[in-house]
Amino acid sequence: MPSPSANPVRVALIGAGDISEQHLTALAKIDGATVVGLADINEPGMHARAEAHGISRDQCFTDAQKMLDAVKPDAVSVCTPNALHGPNTLAALEAGAHVIVEKPMAMNAVEAKAMIDTAKKNDRKLVIGFQFRYDPRTAFVVAQREAGVLGDLRFGRVWALRRRGIPNWGVFGRKDLQGGGPMIDIGVHSLEACHYAMGAPKPVAAVGMTDTYLGNREDATKIENMWPNWDWKTYTVEDLAIGHIRFDNGAVIHIESSFAAHHEHTTTTMDFQLMGTKGGVKWADPQLFTDLNGYMLDARPAYIRKFQWNDYFVAKLTNFIHHVRDDQPTNAPAQHGLMVQQMLDAIYQSADNGGAEIAID
Ligand SMILES: NC(=O)c1ccc[n+]([C@@H]2O[C@H](COP(=O)([O-])OP(=O)(O)OC[C@H]3O[C@@H](n4cnc5c(N)ncnc54)[C@H](O)[C@@H]3O)[C@@H](O)[C@H]2O)c1
Repeated sequence: MPSPSANPVRVALIGAGDISEQHLTALAKIDGATVVGLADINEPGMHARAEAHGISRDQCFTDAQKMLDAVKPDAVSVCTPNALHGPNTLAALEAGAHVIVEKPMAMNAVEAKAMIDTAKKNDRKLVIGFQFRYDPRTAFVVAQREAGVLGDLRFGRVWALRRRGIPNWGVFGRKDLQGGGPMIDIGVHSLEACHYAMGAPKPVAAVGMTDTYLGNREDATKIENMWPNWDWKTYTVEDLAIGHIRFDNGAVIHIESSFAAHHEHTTTTMDFQLMGTKGGVKWADPQLFTDLNGYMLDARPAYIRKFQWNDYFVAKLTNFIHHVRDDQPTNAPAQHGLMVQQMLDAIYQSADNGGAEIAID
């Protein structure tokens, strides 16, 4: 059998900002993938990124469509701000490329559905860049659910909270380019992992609240924190969002997310916990709660591999490359991206409507 490197998947990136560094570093570690193109409107930034990864100037383009036409990649990784996930994914799919798109899948479920339809029409694969589902701790949780140890899952408690962590790069404070704040940016990580760990049930309704009390204030940028001097003038997203999602099997997820939560932790905490009829489980510091031989028992895995940051990107891009090249199943299908998007949409819509319950179809 020929080695994968003899016939590598030719990958191009659209967006050469912060997260592209992780994608390029990961792709260099994957046997059977090679980077053939880069597109970004910020030419100096793109050239610096390209140089650091041995990508030549003639593989760099300031226009994504021109890059697609010239390079004709087999696959594209979309790493732009959220508002450009949809348009760039559609362009790449229409150009005949398979796509992995960074989280969240899109700005809203309408865009997400159009992306899925376009992938089907062009017979191309569409994968979402969700990454916590590849974490060994998620595998631990899934193993307990699949073995029946948790019984019937009734409740998922999810959080993604920063005491103070408003990104001071990119456009993360701009609702028009991101779709929202911490809920769509970091809440999405913990939400996708919890939803996946629960077996990806169908969401049917949600309620939510959002609040902005700090990110749009100049005086708040002066308070000592890890990412000072964010652009408070263009800050139009929420600081805090809470959601409550119901699923067709009766289970519920409660999610809390914030860039500026006045609570005890100073580092970002992203976590979830599941509670079922027979047992429960915690994710970040994995722990199992059950009953055994007449006693309530707490148990911890004695060993579990710890992912470093780039390991997430190696894991998700390896899965994507095998999906494209060998038709192996993906762990992050576009349908999961759509369901997560529907939950996010419904939380935001509910918040805009005074907390009314929003049905998800
Ligand atoms: N998976 C993760 O852990 C993770 C972490 C951070 C960000 N992200 C996601 O990655 C995406 C990008 O985030 P980032 O931190 O890299 O932001 P960033 O601002 O650093 O990078 C975005 C890049 O897109 C470029 N861009 C803007 N418009 C473009 C266009 N029309 N064509 C081509 N390029 C264009 C910008 O010039 C910039 O270089 C976001 O969707 C974000 O949610 C994922």
